[in-house]
Amino acid sequence: MTTASAGSTGTSPAVEPFDVVDVIRTKRDGQALADGQIDWVIDAYTRGVVAEQQMAALAMAIFLRGMERSEIARWTNAMIASGERMDFQALSKPTTDKHSTGGVGDKITLPLAPLVASFGVAVPQLSGRGLGHTGGTLDKLEAIPGWRADLSNAEMMAQLESAGAVICAAGSGLAPADKKLYALRDITGTVEAIPLIASSIMSKKIAEGTAALTLDVKTGAGAFMKDEADARELARTMVELGTDAGVHTVALLTDMSAPLGRTAGNGLEVRESLEVLAGGGPADIVELTCALAREMLDAAGVHDADVEAALADGRAMDSWRAMISAQGGDVDAPLPVAKHVEDLRATEDGVVTGLDAMGVGVAAWRLGAGRSRPGEAVQAAAGVEIEAHIGDEVKAGDVLARLHTDTPERMPRALESIDGSWTLAAPGTTVRARKIVMDRIA
Ligand code: URA
Repeated sequence: MTTASAGSTGTSPAVEPFDVVDVIRTKRDGQALADGQIDWVIDAYTRGVVAEQQMAALAMAIFLRGMERSEIARWTNAMIASGERMDFQALSKPTTDKHSTGGVGDKITLPLAPLVASFGVAVPQLSGRGLGHTGGTLDKLEAIPGWRADLSNAEMMAQLESAGAVICAAGSGLAPADKKLYALRDITGTVEAIPLIASSIMSKKIAEGTAALTLDVKTGAGAFMKDEADARELARTMVELGTDAGVHTVALLTDMSAPLGRTAGNGLEVRESLEVLAGGGPADIVELTCALAREMLDAAGVHDADVEAALADGRAMDSWRAMISAQGGDVDAPLPVAKHVEDLRATEDGVVTGLDAMGVGVAAWRLGAGRSRPGEAVQAAAGVEIEAHIGDEVKAGDVLARLHTDTPERMPRALESIDGSWTLAAPGTTVRARKIVMDRIA
């Protein structure tokens, strides 16, 4: 793999060509930013000339005022230019990648990357940490004893040849502007903005140099885009950004009104992913994993792949073991267990017709699976295990969910957010199966 350095040199001009307060005011007052303003503000933020408080104000102005498509494209390119670009053309296999806009219980990358790799296609998955109430793939995998997220470019390339899949942290050289801005948005209430999400995801994916990209754009209570029209707009924006950059980009619009699967929390989600890789696991996780795998493989030239068979016969599990052990993970070590577990019980009989993903996601976060300050450690064993999901029949006193944490003082606030997340209908009510993949946008 080669890398090309672009953009910020780390040296500042004697006189900065723009005043950041003017840039903030332009957006605050609802006007479009000029190309030069965008290029400069991203570069100056990366160099530390624009302070965190100033970028926070600008991010909030963008959140409230939005951006035109041309501004989003320019912002994305400026973030790409803030760092290096990777190039996998020297690999002996085609590359294909996927990115999710984030949801509750979204552990899909864990079974998906090795599943796709088992068909001889390389999956370079540069992943992130938890953002807001949604979990991060790296936080999940760090629940596996010994596993490490930081790989050099050379290690990544070697692993793609040997194991086929890599899930690791984006190196500090890749879109460094996004790295800073992502952490800032997480703690300033500026995550849920189409221009900021689209540019954040696409700057990393374009800089990463994948030939093909499948996007999982989530909508519903547990997604950043609650509204379906907003999620469609986000999907279209990202597909356009990717296509314009020469990346074969397709988006699936998927349901995030209820959590995916039956767990939310780092180690708990690894355990559930292992069930899928062993040929079992919850139907919604299997459905989405297979739908995304087919798209990723198709984009890489592998058509009509029998992905279900690769889960059932252990090929995907073999790939998982190779991928995890190549990064120091002990594939046979027991996963961490929380010191404290409390049950939430049903107070009446009924059939579960709804389960609020946001209530579950916030509970997992409060139990210690996510962070509320940048750099804070997360708990590997904290999270929520859902015992009663949509369509299940419950009796008063049955366990709806098990809450896991190492720090029991977190329990009351977690219970507060999860209580009321279940909607029950009269016993015997028929519940229509949930449609996970709602649309395909290309
Ligand atoms: N994932 C990202 O990488 N960035 C966002 O802004 C949201 C999800």
